[in-house]
Amino acid sequence: MSKVVVLAGDGIGPEVCASAVQVLQHLAPDVQIEHALLGGGAYDLTGSPFPGATREAVLACDAVLLGTVGGAQNSPWNSLPRALRPESGLLQLRQALGVFANLRPVKVMPGLEDLSPLRSDLARQVDVLIVRELLGGAYFDPRRAIEGEHAYNTIGYSKSEVDRVARVAFEAARTRQHRLTSVDKANVLEVSELWRGVVQNLRDTEYTDVKLEHEYVDSVAMLLVKTPGRYDVIVTENLFGDILSDLAAVIPGSLGVMPSASLGDGPGLYEPIHGSAPDIAGKGVANPVGTILSVAMLLRHSLGRDAEASRIEAAVQQALATVRTPDLGGSHSTAQMGAAVLAELGAG
Ligand code: NAD
Ligand code: IPM
Ligand code: MN
Repeated sequence: MSKVVVLAGDGIGPEVCASAVQVLQHLAPDVQIEHALLGGGAYDLTGSPFPGATREAVLACDAVLLGTVGGAQNSPWNSLPRALRPESGLLQLRQALGVFANLRPVKVMPGLEDLSPLRSDLARQVDVLIVRELLGGAYFDPRRAIEGEHAYNTIGYSKSEVDRVARVAFEAARTRQHRLTSVDKANVLEVSELWRGVVQNLRDTEYTDVKLEHEYVDSVAMLLVKTPGRYDVIVTENLFGDILSDLAAVIPGSLGVMPSASLGDGPGLYEPIHGSAPDIAGKGVANPVGTILSVAMLLRHSLGRDAEASRIEAAVQQALATVRTPDLGGSHSTAQMGAAVLAELGAG
């Protein structure tokens, strides 16, 4: 029997996870679900944002579903030593699972172009997969410090780290339009020069069927808004991927509808790309769609249940035609949004 560990986390995490877990239970009643702690709430209860019991649970399951972690800007959690803050718990979780490739698909669903802040003719063309490197760069490089009046971080990558994430991107391109854009800042950064070389070498030796382009990150930020239809698969380093994926995420209408999958050699990690949204937490109005679509990715990538995954995606598209949370300009609640998806799935 498959086992999924749910880490609801902080802020709106528990609200969006409740809806997503209902969808999972409806479509895969045989899956065993276990709950564990992560983030600020975990710190308050155990003294660690990634407690030992959570580490054990996630290393012994098939997939992890995560809500969100973190507090408001003025939360006392932000004054803790960095290693004890909620976000560090998330980074430790990613590291423990070895999930080096973060897949963030950005697609405007047919018929839902009106949700996009872009013109409909531009929005209609958007179908991009962002592959973000997740375990390297400035996030994990040990060369970092605040030294009195001076502070620094370092973006280091080794060839093997670039190679393994680029392979994931090339393979994904092969299942799509066979187009890959590698995003860097090679006009300024040495680390980008190495990155570019590794990706180009893979193209020339193993992925000659994929059309590869190299573009600078500042230019991509602009072109993602101006002509988003030009991209199929994008691969980039951790920090660039963090920023570009939030930017791309609003194209379908709201950060609240965007799922993600983080993959390595062990259990996969599935989470919406938005944060804990302290401004709306506890009000019951958060959009659960990003987390529900993360369940679809979980079923597809970790449990091999493609048919159920596609059913969720179709149900979400149907439900959004009439039921929308406030981030999408509607007035429905989290529970109503979740119930609408379940109704499309034939529950009730
Ligand atoms: P955020 O994503 O939490 O919120 C940005 C804006 O989007 C807010 O106005 C929020 O209300 C809205 N929003 C986000 N998700 C929504 C949803 N599902 N439905 C409706 N509206 C939604 O970003 P932030 O305010 O910069 O960060 C808040 C906290 O979350 C910080 O502590 C940050 O570190 C953390 N964070 C966590 C994750 C994660 O757990 N993966 C990701 C990003 C940020
Ligand atoms: C994300 C988040 C995280 C990141 C934070 C909360 C550590 O912004 O998942 O995109 O920067 O990776
Ligand atoms: Mn982010």
